[in-house]
Amino acid sequence: MNFRVFDSYEEVSAYSAELLAEVISEKEDAVLGLATGSSPVGMYKELIKLHEEGKLDFSKAKSINLDEYVGLDGSHDQSYRYFMNTNLFDHVNMDKKNTFVPDGTTDDLMEGARKYDELIESMGGIDVQVLGIGPNGHIGFNEPADELKMNTHVAELTEETIQANARFFASEKDVPTRAVTMGVGPIMKAKKIILIASGENKAWAVKSLVDDVITTKIPATLLKLHPDVTVVLDKEAAGML
Ligand code: F6R
Repeated sequence: MNFRVFDSYEEVSAYSAELLAEVISEKEDAVLGLATGSSPVGMYKELIKLHEEGKLDFSKAKSINLDEYVGLDGSHDQSYRYFMNTNLFDHVNMDKKNTFVPDGTTDDLMEGARKYDELIESMGGIDVQVLGIGPNGHIGFNEPADELKMNTHVAELTEETIQANARFFASEKDVPTRAVTMGVGPIMKAKKIILIASGENKAWAVKSLVDDVITTKIPATLLKLHPDVTVVLDKEAAGML
């Protein structure tokens, strides 16, 4: 794992955008594995800037997102589809038909999950996967547990994750308790991973990335087995390293 520590979130965002832009410059039809949440917001802003400056062309790129809340459709302002449209897709020349987010509203969530894995396969896997990290070490919504799932599945969110995400909703009781999430399989098979973390509340989870332990109780520790992970941190998130 390659650790990069910056003084500010702005620098974290600019560097992460540079890494992602490099992948697209090398392969114009790259498959981008994307994340939502606060961590990548600044990176998306930087990518939009690069695009507006004529330095980055998304016209052939494809994207596949990690997760979506069960019960929220794309028009809900807290759905991850809505997040992706407003934070990135609406502002760059990406064909929305080439952007994929799990469907959290389909009647048969299991069948939807199975099809999502087929989709990832049919795209030839993920060239670069962007990840945030939960304060409890989750990646995607692969929460700490005795075992982890390889494939896309419906996950029950932990109380800690519900509390952490309540800041985006009117109240904690409005936070969906389940999400459709990619499993750890496609994440670990991604050619390259960029993990972004900022803020003191991530310091514990970030420290677990350097400890000599791999455990499903801290899902991000699995990333130690991946050959190309760059962890991009601000100094608060790096505080316990
Ligand atoms: C989001 C996702 C989550 C977040 C994590 C950190 O698509 O899969 O794993 O990356 O919860 O969230 P933030 O960045 O809001 O602290």
